[in-house]
Amino acid sequence: MADHAAHALEPNPTARAFCLTSAFWFAVATTAGLWAAGYLIAPDFMANIAYLQFGRLRPIHVNLVLFGFVTPGLLAAAFYYVPRLTRTELFSQRLGVLTAWLWNLTVTVGIVSLSLGFSQGREYAELVWPVDMLVVLVFALVGVNLIMTVHRRREPVLYVSIWYVFAAVVLTALTYALGNVIWRPDTGALLGIPDAILLWFYGHNIFGLLLTPLSLGVAYYVIPIVTRNPLYSHTLSLLGFWSLLVVYTHIGTHHLLQVPVPTWLKVVAIVDSIAMVIPVMAFLINIWYTARGKLGEIHADIAGKFIFTGTIWYFFVSIQGSVMALPQVQRITHFNNWTVGHAHIGVLGFAGMIALGGMYFILPKLSGKPLYSRFLADLQYWLVLIGITGFLVILTTVGLIQGNAWFNGETVYRVLPEIHLYYVLRLSAGLAILSGAYIGLYNMVRTLFFNPGVQA
Ligand code: HEM
Ligand code: HEM
Repeated sequence: MADHAAHALEPNPTARAFCLTSAFWFAVATTAGLWAAGYLIAPDFMANIAYLQFGRLRPIHVNLVLFGFVTPGLLAAAFYYVPRLTRTELFSQRLGVLTAWLWNLTVTVGIVSLSLGFSQGREYAELVWPVDMLVVLVFALVGVNLIMTVHRRREPVLYVSIWYVFAAVVLTALTYALGNVIWRPDTGALLGIPDAILLWFYGHNIFGLLLTPLSLGVAYYVIPIVTRNPLYSHTLSLLGFWSLLVVYTHIGTHHLLQVPVPTWLKVVAIVDSIAMVIPVMAFLINIWYTARGKLGEIHADIAGKFIFTGTIWYFFVSIQGSVMALPQVQRITHFNNWTVGHAHIGVLGFAGMIALGGMYFILPKLSGKPLYSRFLADLQYWLVLIGITGFLVILTTVGLIQGNAWFNGETVYRVLPEIHLYYVLRLSAGLAILSGAYIGLYNMVRTLFFNPGVQA
């Protein structure tokens, strides 16, 4: 099997630090998610511990999965492939490792402050001003390191993965600052409707201009290598890149269809949500055609398996998203667990799976040895896949029950007993994901530090 082969050691302490960061926070984030899911079953569970209440755990969970797990995992792969694709060394390993430490400091300060009740109360922008500044700083440091690496390149052609990672890091540093209204440190917010519009411009950009381009960059790098096929079409990859940037930046208002924002803005958001089919299919056709006839190779390679599965979830989450942007559909799916299901298949099924695949791809190269355990990596794959599929089915069903009850004018307290069982099932599916996260952490730490495998 491809990933059992020994690899020449390619020391890259920055990529290693980001890998460990991601694996560690994945475990902590799922623990927080499971805890939060427990509250939805038994709201009085630990009711007296203020810093572990649902209202605090939820933003802790969400910020951890976004900034603790998925983004660092995808960046770990980028820190590996950018120097390789440019045929040079990373500009500064020292700066990279320092950035990883600062990154962990930022995440830690962020969750401790949320748990102590310091929150700006805006979804995906809860972190208070000093933490916001740290987030902008770490993105800027990542940007400097990668830009300087490309500046010193020996390869004139910039492969599409590099385009994606640059777009992600540079645009996120900007949209994060804008969306968190960092020029107003006390509130981190504008007033009224303009604030909602700005918040969701930023909010969907976290998925569309951070997680999506970073994930596509990893897939574009790994799939041709694993399948030993050249990329199907470079032109298509550029069409996908530019259409993603043009279309994604306009769709944030589809989160506000139930809000009195100007109608023209809603129309733009809806039309562009449908137009998202262009960048999505440009990418998927390109990757799936690259992998055509090589499913055996993908199945045999754990990184390829995670990443290819992530592309399938990308297909589902995007088609679902375009449909959810239609006002008639959202009349039922908004304000309930349908959207939470969509969020999990997007952030975990698509971006999280690709982050895990990226890490499994680079780990044997970073340690110069095969993975500590291919069996544990496979087990993690299945646990995460079963858990996320369970989430989709359970949360979509709950969402339909809640949405139709709302549509028919039912009161919330009559619906809650009906959905109780589903919350228990969601917790069980969560246990699978949580186990997968801890198994992955163990496997990755063993691969890097206590690995009996033979060095190549
Ligand atoms: C043990 C596994 C997990 C459990 C039990 C869990 C549970 C939860 C719960 C209870 C919420 C709050 C939903 C609400 O407000 O009603 C939530 C939100 C969220 N979770 Fe998880 N989660 C898990 C893993 C993950 C992972 C691994 C990711 C991403 C990589 C993730 C991404 C999210 C996101 C993006 C939200 C916000 C959803 C929204 O606002 O619509 N979760 N999760
Ligand atoms: C064609 C692509 C996509 C479209 C058109 C789309 C559309 C939507 C819409 C309309 C909503 C709002 C639902 C509501 O509030 O009623 C939503 C929510 C969400 N989407 Fe997507 N989506 C797409 C892809 C993705 C991807 C790839 C991800 C993750 C990487 C993602 C993550 C999320 C999350 C986390 C939410 C929940 C936001 C919240 O807390 O309310 N989406 N999406």
